Amino acid sequence: MPLVEMKDIHKYFGRVVALRGVDFSVGENEVVGLIGDNGAGKSTLIKILSGVFPPTKGEIFIKGQKIDLHRYSVREAHRMGIETVFQEQALGVKQAIWRNLFLGREPVNRLGFLKLDTAWNETHRMMREMLGFRGGGVSPDASVRTLSGGERQGIAIGRAMYFDANLVILDEPTRALSVQEVRKVLNFILKLKENGKSCVYISHTIANVYSVSDRFVILDRGQVVGEYLRDEISEEELNETLVKLHEARLVRGEEPPAKLN
Ligand SMILES: Nc1ncnc2c1ncn2[C@@H]1O[C@H](COP(=O)(O)OP(=O)(O)O)[C@@H](O)[C@H]1O
Ligand SMILES: [Mg+2]
Repeated sequence: MPLVEMKDIHKYFGRVVALRGVDFSVGENEVVGLIGDNGAGKSTLIKILSGVFPPTKGEIFIKGQKIDLHRYSVREAHRMGIETVFQEQALGVKQAIWRNLFLGREPVNRLGFLKLDTAWNETHRMMREMLGFRGGGVSPDASVRTLSGGERQGIAIGRAMYFDANLVILDEPTRALSVQEVRKVLNFILKLKENGKSCVYISHTIANVYSVSDRFVILDRGQVVGEYLRDEISEEELNETLVKLHEARLVRGEEPPAKLN
């Protein structure tokens, strides 16, 4: 049984069809690379899975249990062990790092006995041990605003590790990460895999996706157009497949999103 299964997912934003009939699943202890051009629907698909908004139509199963999409939310997704690092990290940039790390899940509520100073200490430890922050030069009291994009991702990743998520979804920021930051993200994914967890990784850099994924799913204009196990396709072939899709779009003059008739 897959860890999560999305069936026949459709999503309309007014007249824009972002997804049309997507089947997408993630297995236990599987890393899935979700790839496709800008506007393909990748972020929309994972936002639905993360509880940001419901699909227009379709079903989601988590560990075989059908999700009531009217009641599903980011909080509910957290409760089910799904943690997402969104492409746009808008939330709480003015907050102190330690506050942000425990956002909406103050340790007292979850563990009963933890105090806020424990949260601070936990953050401090996590920043040192898990996230490898610049030579200890950043305090948990610093505002998230002072962090680079990669470090902000690190916070979200730290949150996923701390709360021991079963499925971590990473939607790569639009702004390029530094080489070190990319390496940290890739190491994190490998660590998840070693620990028996699952991951959905969205990145524009095929070499990165290729290096860590067990399987690739290609989205194009709101539909799944290809699905490969890593053993079935070389990095070069995967790249060629994407280039061909891109060229086909250019030939059809289909750069703008598909519209409903
Ligand atoms: N909140 C929104 N409102 C209207 N249109 C949206 C919204 N989010 C995404 N879209 C549209 O849905 C399509 C898929 O977008 P997205 O999922 O962000 O693609 P990707 O992440 O693959 O680049 C695009 O045409 C985009 O413009
Ligand atoms: Mg996106």
